[in-house]
Amino acid sequence: MSSLEILQPPHPTLKTPAALVDEIDGALVRLMADMLETMYAAPGIGLAAPQVGVSRRVVVIDTSEEKNAPVRLLNPTLTWRSDTFDVAEEGCLSLPGQFADVKRHTAVVASYLDPSGKERTLEAEGLLARCLQHEIDHLDGILFTDHLSALKRNMILRRLIKQRRARA
Ligand code: NI
Repeated sequence: MSSLEILQPPHPTLKTPAALVDEIDGALVRLMADMLETMYAAPGIGLAAPQVGVSRRVVVIDTSEEKNAPVRLLNPTLTWRSDTFDVAEEGCLSLPGQFADVKRHTAVVASYLDPSGKERTLEAEGLLARCLQHEIDHLDGILFTDHLSALKRNMILRRLIKQRRARA
């Protein structure tokens, strides 16, 4: 396994809708292992393939306290969204150090393929539901900042650029 570079805006891959996975091969299994290693090292609770420069519909998530319950999702889609919403602070490994309140459905149901190609569904609420919505957004080229006002979005992007310059 190896750690992957996490892309930041304005990298175009972050804004590009990702392609469906149509074959589960060794390269894809390795990608998921590397994505999990990268996510745990960051540390983060979710990572989508476009964030590591791979424009495929692949997501890894682990919202467990012990960090021992990885979920690998291929071609995930939301098949149900609650009518109720929660607002909570959200971050993103592609926007290090940046946080903002984002409104999300309180509960969702996702369907996806697991790494063996089996169709599965995941009923989620709370943090896992938020994480699923955030990661599936990534597959459609959407960042959490796209849910904010232009003013807040630009403020975060400016802070990110400033932070990158300070480190360079
Ligand atoms: Ni993210």
